[in-house]
Formats: sequence, C-alpha cells, structure tokens
Amino acid sequence: MTSHFNFDQLRNLSIGTVDFVSPNEIKVLLETDAPQNTALNTGVPGLFPRINGFVLIPNEVGALVGIISWLGVEHSQFPKRKGFKDYDLIDLPFPLRKMAINPIGTLKTEIKNKEIVYKLERGIYSFPSVGDSVVLPKDEQLRSIIENDDEQAFVKIGTAPIAGNAIVKINPNKLFGRHIAVLGNTGSGKSCSAAGIIRWSLEQASKQRADDKKPLNARFIILDPNGEYSQSFDDLGINVKRFKIELTAKETDQYKQLRVPAWFWNSYEWSSFTLATGRTQRPILRRALRELKSGISLDGDDCTPAVKSYFSSCSISLRADINAGVSAFKEKPGRNEFGKKIQSLAREATFFASKTKDQLKQNLETLSTTLDSIARVRYRTFEKEGQTIEYFDGFEISEASAVLDAVNTLLNTIGGISVNEGPNEDMPVEFNIDLLPDHLEVISEEQGVIQFLDFLIMRIRGLLADSRMNATIGNDPGITLESWLEDYLSGITIIDLSLIPADIIHIIVAVISRITFEAIQRYRRLKGNVLPTVLMLEEAHNFIKKHHTTTDEISPLDICSQTFEKIAKEGRKFGLSLLISSQRPSELSDTVLSQCNTFLLHRLVNDRDQDLVRRLVPDNIGGLLNELPMLPTRKAILLGWASPIPILVEMNELEKKYRPKSDDPDFWEVWTGESERQEDWKAISEEWQADTAAAKTASQDVPTAATKNASSMEPLNEDDEDLPF
Ligand SMILES: Nc1ncnc2c1ncn2[C@@H]1O[C@H](COP(=O)(O)OP(=O)(O)OP(=O)(O)O)[C@@H](O)[C@H]1O
Ligand SMILES: [Mg+2]
Repeated sequence: MTSHFNFDQLRNLSIGTVDFVSPNEIKVLLETDAPQNTALNTGVPGLFPRINGFVLIPNEVGALVGIISWLGVEHSQFPKRKGFKDYDLIDLPFPLRKMAINPIGTLKTEIKNKEIVYKLERGIYSFPSVGDSVVLPKDEQLRSIIENDDEQAFVKIGTAPIAGNAIVKINPNKLFGRHIAVLGNTGSGKSCSAAGIIRWSLEQASKQRADDKKPLNARFIILDPNGEYSQSFDDLGINVKRFKIELTAKETDQYKQLRVPAWFWNSYEWSSFTLATGRTQRPILRRALRELKSGISLDGDDCTPAVKSYFSSCSISLRADINAGVSAFKEKPGRNEFGKKIQSLAREATFFASKTKDQLKQNLETLSTTLDSIARVRYRTFEKEGQTIEYFDGFEISEASAVLDAVNTLLNTIGGISVNEGPNEDMPVEFNIDLLPDHLEVISEEQGVIQFLDFLIMRIRGLLADSRMNATIGNDPGITLESWLEDYLSGITIIDLSLIPADIIHIIVAVISRITFEAIQRYRRLKGNVLPTVLMLEEAHNFIKKHHTTTDEISPLDICSQTFEKIAKEGRKFGLSLLISSQRPSELSDTVLSQCNTFLLHRLVNDRDQDLVRRLVPDNIGGLLNELPMLPTRKAILLGWASPIPILVEMNELEKKYRPKSDDPDFWEVWTGESERQEDWKAISEEWQADTAAAKTASQDVPTAATKNASSMEPLNEDDEDLPF
C-alpha cells in the first residue's frame, strides 16, 4: 500500500518527536521551535493544538490520530541541541515542552477523482516508535477527522470549536437506531439538546422527503415530566399532539385529555399499584381481572360462565395434584393443603349456589355436600397452648379421584371443561373498571380471606374515586385500543406528566411505555418489518432507578424501571429506541445505561456521576472527560455509535420559541419591577378546587356502575386526602 502523505511537507509540520509509547498514552517531546500559540505551518493560521486538539503521527498506513490530553513543561538537565556542540559552554537546566496524547484512530488516504481524500478509521493499526515525528493536521485533515464521512450523516447538530469549527453531522439512523443518553447537570442544556436533535433531524427529513405534501412518517413519544416541550416541535410539517391531565377550559384547544384506561394495565401493574403480596392477594387479583376481562361478572343474572371458568381451573389443578403422586394429597407436604383446597371448593360451590337457580343450584349444592363429606373423613384437630389447631390426615388416591369426579360431573352439566376461554388477565381488553373492587370483594369473601384484601380493595376504590385521575383511567368517554394506538403512536406525541399524582405516575409511564413496546413488537410480527419509533424520557433518574426491592411486593417504580430495561434490551430489534435524559446518571439503572450506544455528555460536576460516565466509555478518551465539570452550557461531548470519534460539540442554537420552557427564573427583574408579575392565588385556588367540585356534582348526577353497586357499602376515600380542603 502506498502512502499519499507528502513527507517533505510533513517535515515542515513536524512539532516534535515521540518520547514514550503505551497503548493508551503517547508522550511527545515538542521541538524547541514548535509554535506556541498560533501555528502558521498548516498553511492557514490555526491555533496551536490545545487540550482536546488533534495531532498526527505518520506511519506506513497513513497516520495515527491522537487527542491531546496533557501539555506541560519539564526541566531537563541535558538539553538536546541539534547540530553543533560548544564545549566551552556549560549546559543549564533547560525547559522542555511535552505533551501527552491518547491514540483514537487512524487517518487513511484514498484517491478519489484524482484528489487525495482523508478518511478516519477507528482502531490503531500500528503504534509509533520512539523518535517518530509528530505533526499538526492540515485543515482538510482536521475536517476529515471531525466531519462524519458517513454518506447518511445528514443532520448537522453543531460545530467542533477545537477543530476549526468543523461541522458536526450525524447519521440519524445511527443516532436513533440505538438508544441515546443525554446526561448533564441542571441547566447544562440537556433539554435543549434533546429537543434539538429531534428538531434538526426532522427539519432535514422534511427537506429530503419524497413527497413534500405528506406529513413526515415519524413517531416520537415524549414523556415530559415538567411540561416543557409543548412548543418545541411546532412548524415541522408533522402532526404534534399534546396530552395532559386536568385540562382547563383554556387548554382544550392545545391539549387533549391524557387517557391510559385502567383496563390497559396488566396484572403486574395492578399488583404493583395495589402493593399486592404474592401468596394471597395476587392470585385473587389475577382471577378478578381475568373474569372481568372475559365478561364474567358475579353480579349479573347468569353466573354460569363464572361457575364454568372457576371449576374448570379447579379441575385442571386437581388433575395435576393426582398426577404429581402421593406427596400432593396423602403425604407431607401436600396433604394439609389438599384438605384445605377441598374445603375451599365446597365453600365456593355453596357461594355459587346462592347466586344461581334451578338445576345448577341443586348441582352445586350436591357438589358442596360431596366435597364436605370427603374432607370431613380426614379432618383432625389438636389442642396446643389453649388453641385448636386444624389439620388434615393423608387422603387416599380413591378420595382424591372422587373429588375430581365430583367437580367434573358438575362441569358436564354445564357443557364440560373449558380451557383458556377468553382473554387472559394481562391483555388490554375492555371491562368496566368500576366493577373491580366489588368483584375482588366477592371473590375474597368467597375464599374467606377478605381481611387480607381490605387494604388492596380500599386502594383501588381510592384510585377510582380520585377525580383527577378518573378522566385518565376510567372507562368514560369510551376509547378502543385501536383509537388509542392511532392517537398516540403517530407523529409527535407529547405527554405532559406534570400534574399526575406521585403515587400513580410510575404506573402511568410504565403502561404507556409497555403498550407502545408491545404494539411495536406486534407490528413487526404482523408486517415483517419495523415501525421506527423513539420513546423519549426526561428526568429518567426518576423512572429508571437501580433496583432495591427485596420484599415480596413490586413497587410501581420497579415496574417502571423493569419496563424500560426491557425496552433497552430488546427495543432496538423492533425499531423502538430510547432517548433518555438525566441529571443523575449514577442513580440510573445500569442495564439501561449500558444499553445506550450514543452519549451526549453535558457539564457534570458530581464525582459519582463523572465516575460512572468514565466507566461507560473506553479508557483512551479519559482525558476528554476531564473537561466535563467545566463544560459551558450548549457544549457537550458526543461519543459512541453515532460519532466516529468522541468529540466536543458546540450544539446548534435552538431558536427561543422552540426551547423547552425551563429558563432560569428572573428574580431580579421581578424584584425590581422591570418585569411585571402579579400574584393571583384566587384564580389558582379556584381552578384547583373547582375541578373536584365539578367532578363531584357530575358523579352525583350520573350514577356510575360503581356507585350503583357499592350503594350498600360505605364510600371509602370519597375525598382525596391530598386535596387542600
Ligand atoms: N442549544 C441551545 N440553544 C440555545 N440555548 C440553549 C441551548 N442549550 C442550552 N441553552 C440555554 O441553556 C438553558 C438551560 O438549558 P436546558 O433547559 O436545556 O438545561 P437542562 O440541562 O435541561 O436543565 P434541567 O436539568 O434543569 O432541565 C436554556 O434555557 C437555554 O437558554
Ligand atoms: Mg431539562
């Protein structure tokens, strides 16, 4: 391979020689006459490289590119003077300028249209040796180091001040194709950068779109905890929709009511919201959801489907016990549980009998008597410390089979066993959400465990009674899964999370993200190709925490973190990418961060955050990261998949009207009266309280299914204790 470097010219550009080489660091001894401030030797005046500037070390394949990480003076006893030596003079300690560089890649040359072009490749082919010349890059070399030669690098995001303001362009497929993390302290420019990269990409896409009459076929879901992005994506030739809770009359032309109906939630999300424990509560919750989603209600006229569904699953479980052998019914550990199971089946049969009529009622009563008599034979008690302890002796196989036969006989009278009929409890199938607490109450009463479900049922009632959330999670106005997906998964969807109560925000975010992910997964399965979609999450440290839970309960925050971890691990294959922004990277889940492939690092002052970021990037750019605590607003280090080399970027200016609304508060102007600002607590308190008053009147006028059904019960939690009255 021939090198197209002109060595005569290189000699003029030479600024020093290699003094020390290690894989991560190369030390260079600068020549005494190397320029100090302005370098003229590249043809055009340029600043002599400073920290984070670039130098080249020519070799047989081109040149090694190094990024300067340290510059300094060391005193040497024996200065090197080239040429003559004057024996009459005494050599005094002499200051030697030195610098350290980190190797980052190789600059190769190619001939294109008879012109030499430079191309940066990642990786080092051969390390220099001591004594090799170090040269300054020429202007076009510098540009080819910084500028992305990717043919699809369409989007300009900023300039590189350290490399003669070369333009920094990125390939949107690379940027959005793998997850991105924008990290930095408050006020460092994260939100502007995040809004900017989306805006600048879409602006460029509008210019290059095939048909400029059609809106862009892009999907961005912006989860916006501070409600700051509402104007950021205006005028882009793409449909922008804004969703929010507690809409005021003024907001209705801009915003739509946020809908995340509670029937979207799966059983894990319900368990986590209600803090359900594994042993008793979760199975009952799951059963209630399954029955309601299959349209089975215990309050309706005909509860045959409920009987069929319940005893079918009992039949399956009894068969499994018999197949498992004697340990499940005759010996320990199973025999006691088996006895209790028969007792509970008998109780259920009596309960269902009270809800049915005619033949089915009789059959259920017969079943109950049969089961009771089988259980009674093995029922034992003993006294311990004044208490009667109940237990069961071993059942024979004939007895176990008799239980199964009795259940199957009943099933045969109502059309036989039905397996997995209807939806499971995790599917987003509509049901009347107001029926859930009552249904749970019925099931737990039937199983004699109502005392263990009190709190759980109360929590669900409290949620449904919360007028702020009713319009979001309730059934009214009707919404279908299809219309939700059409609304939320097209164009830009900005979801303002700012007024959502703290105890439910994680569930809402988890449900939106999970439904989005599942929809995108199903799209690929059905259509064979992916539907590129970006999910952006601001203040990600509040939603994607490192896990701590060791108890049985899954907290809402855990559910939310797990959802994002799943998207981080699997989303890319289905075309769903994450753009997360956070001030506290050290609090973020490692799984999510380590799946991010592109990082935009703004100023980071905290040690722990810096350490974490350092661990995420390769060693040899460590020097660049030393600048993190000093970076001015708008400057950021771009590194990872979307950028051929790590580089310091001055981000484009984002026009004021599109900036996320997070300006620093103008105390001084307000204090001095330069800027007019009136207190208006009357309007605020009226709006705050009026919503609830209106909701109360509405619920009195139109009895919902819940109020109808719950009329016999004390209304729990009617007033929300968080409201200020
Ligand atoms: N690219 C940019 N163009 C114009 N102004 C910018 C840009 N980046 C940052 N700024 C300025 O810096 C201010 C703070 O930026 P930004 O709101 O993005 O910070 P942040 O890191 O998101 O802060 P927080 O963590 O508090 O949300 C902005 O109000 C804006 O004035
Ligand atoms: Mg911000």
